[in-house]
Amino acid sequence: MSLSLIPGQKLIAATHNPGKAREISALLDDRFEVIPAGELGLPEPPETEVSFIGNAILKARHAAMKAGMAALADDSGLSIAALDGDPGVYSARWAGPYKDFDRAIEVIEHKLRLAKEAKGDGYTTRAFFTCALAVAWPEGHACVFEGRVDGDIVFPKRGDKGFGYDPIFRPDGHDMTFAEMDPEAKDAISHRHLAFEQLRKALF
Ligand code: IMP
Repeated sequence: MSLSLIPGQKLIAATHNPGKAREISALLDDRFEVIPAGELGLPEPPETEVSFIGNAILKARHAAMKAGMAALADDSGLSIAALDGDPGVYSARWAGPYKDFDRAIEVIEHKLRLAKEAKGDGYTTRAFFTCALAVAWPEGHACVFEGRVDGDIVFPKRGDKGFGYDPIFRPDGHDMTFAEMDPEAKDAISHRHLAFEQLRKALF
């Protein structure tokens, strides 16, 4: 059995979000016939792991076994040092069912204010975005790749170009937050880009 991907082959994107499946297809240079798991009616497993890699493997294995085909899953989020790594794997959940990231950012600002008071000189604004990718085959084998971009949390939030936590994250070596950058500039340095770069190197 070969742990590689052959151009043109079918690949399940373990997501119910058609936009994310299209993005995955583009990041793979449209080499594969990417099928969203939602299109096959595959159920989404609960993300019960405590690491990005763990959740990515869980989702990819689940989809690959149910579909009988290779599957790719991602898991990503923002880890903030002063919050002991939160929101981390719960990044999406902090925004609640209505994906209210303004509210999630307010919660972060409040928690950081408390952390600053509690930690004093030990307080830091350091944070990083992670993207874990897992490719799994129906027999159970899996490969994982991880991309990470480090930076600082800034308040007040700035920019309206991105999504999620982009307005409060300023990547190292840049004056702008992710949300102030043009999408192409962000994509060129993002955790997602770095993870897909690893995957392409290893599996193409
Ligand atoms: P996932 O779909 O479970 O991987 O959810 C990841 C969550 O992390 C998203 O809902 C966003 O809140 C956050 N996130 C991941 N990548 C980014 C990014 O590039 N910018 C802003 N927020 C992100």
